[in-house]
Amino acid sequence: MEIGIDKIGFYTPEVFIDMEKLAEARGVEPAKYTIGIGQEKMAVAPLSQDAVSMAANAALEVLDDEDKEAIDFVLLGTESGVDHSKSGAVWVHHLAGIQKYARSVELKQACYSATAAITMAMGHISLHPDRKVLVLGTDIAKYGLNTGGEPTQGAGAVAIVLSANPRILALDADSVSMSEDISDFWRPLHSDYALVDGKFSNQAYLNFLTDVWGEYKQRTHRDLSDFEALCFHVPYTKMGKKALKALTEQASEEDTARLMGYYEPSISYNKAVGNIYTGSLYLSLLSLLEQGPELPENARIGLFSYGSGAVGEFFSGKVKPGYKSHMMKEAHESLLSNRRELTIEEYEAILQQSLPKDGTDVALDFEETSTGSVVLKGVQDNIRQYGIK
Ligand code: CAA
Repeated sequence: MEIGIDKIGFYTPEVFIDMEKLAEARGVEPAKYTIGIGQEKMAVAPLSQDAVSMAANAALEVLDDEDKEAIDFVLLGTESGVDHSKSGAVWVHHLAGIQKYARSVELKQACYSATAAITMAMGHISLHPDRKVLVLGTDIAKYGLNTGGEPTQGAGAVAIVLSANPRILALDADSVSMSEDISDFWRPLHSDYALVDGKFSNQAYLNFLTDVWGEYKQRTHRDLSDFEALCFHVPYTKMGKKALKALTEQASEEDTARLMGYYEPSISYNKAVGNIYTGSLYLSLLSLLEQGPELPENARIGLFSYGSGAVGEFFSGKVKPGYKSHMMKEAHESLLSNRRELTIEEYEAILQQSLPKDGTDVALDFEETSTGSVVLKGVQDNIRQYGIK
């Protein structure tokens, strides 16, 4: 029985900044951000869009009544959690209207946890082939103003429906993962902003990639010629290019040309959104499937997931015939093109806003600042108030 991705949706907030303008404001050569980092635009989340509302918006884009009846497991991966106890998955389960006999759980391991959720989903569906699982990767990447990480921020969510006999990508049970206790990127409980050892994080990412890829090759006896395309965790698009270069260093010209040929379509959405941590790999996959040419029937895609701290995983899937007709290309293009550009001053003000930390009630101005149908309306009696706009 094949298990994999039956549907994939995406949401990003309605406002963004232009990377050239950010560079000018920071006194940096614009080419550093657009070429050196590889980002054109960066999504910004107003207070009315948090990890829960963005995930719910991504889910609502793809779920129909049949899905809402068949889903009995909601797994939400995030490192932008909004409560130390209650999982964001419970809110999304409610906001998306999923039938009540379902498990709802949040998972954390930096940018990696949505991949763990997918593995759990595959196990669940192999035991219960008539059920579906909703996996969400949702995050707001925030390093703070005037930091090295500032040009690699972003915000958004990906929602994936996994099922038996999937229509988009059949996943293989071939994944190789590895864990190592390192401090390349983390966010202490007291901080709204991530802390990072930037250069070390880049190196750690590449070390994990080459290590799990080597082990994957040994275990599966596959090599690059078995892959039509590769997708990577994309904290910024230049990192995706570094990853591709690392894997193709000793590859044949033919393999290198084929894999490099898919690089641009696979980063098109990431370039316009920025880092969305847990969802970044899946945003790249979505970008490849929607913006790339139709992949040959049963073409194999290799996927590398990386979450600082750190866990890495290499796995693969085969595209299903006719997958293009199940993509939502026009909707995603219009989501991105209908966004409003913020001035750098507006962005700076939004980035520094946060909800009161002392339990005070707050009502948010969500009409003006949020196009998503699900919004955070405020906080009352220490309870977050989500609603459909
Ligand atoms: N024109 C073109 N390119 C230019 C340029 C110019 N005028 N000026 C500089 N560049 C290039 C540099 O040569 C460099 O390219 P290479 O990486 O290919 O050498 C690139 O622009 C970046 O320049 P720096 O290395 O000087 O940039 P920096 O020190 O300001 O920091 C960063 C870059 C480390 C990525 C930083 O933005 C950061 O810390 N980001 C957050 C951490 C991160 O995203 N890490 C990724 C791996 S960890 C992970 O993946 C998990 C996660 O999601 C966080």
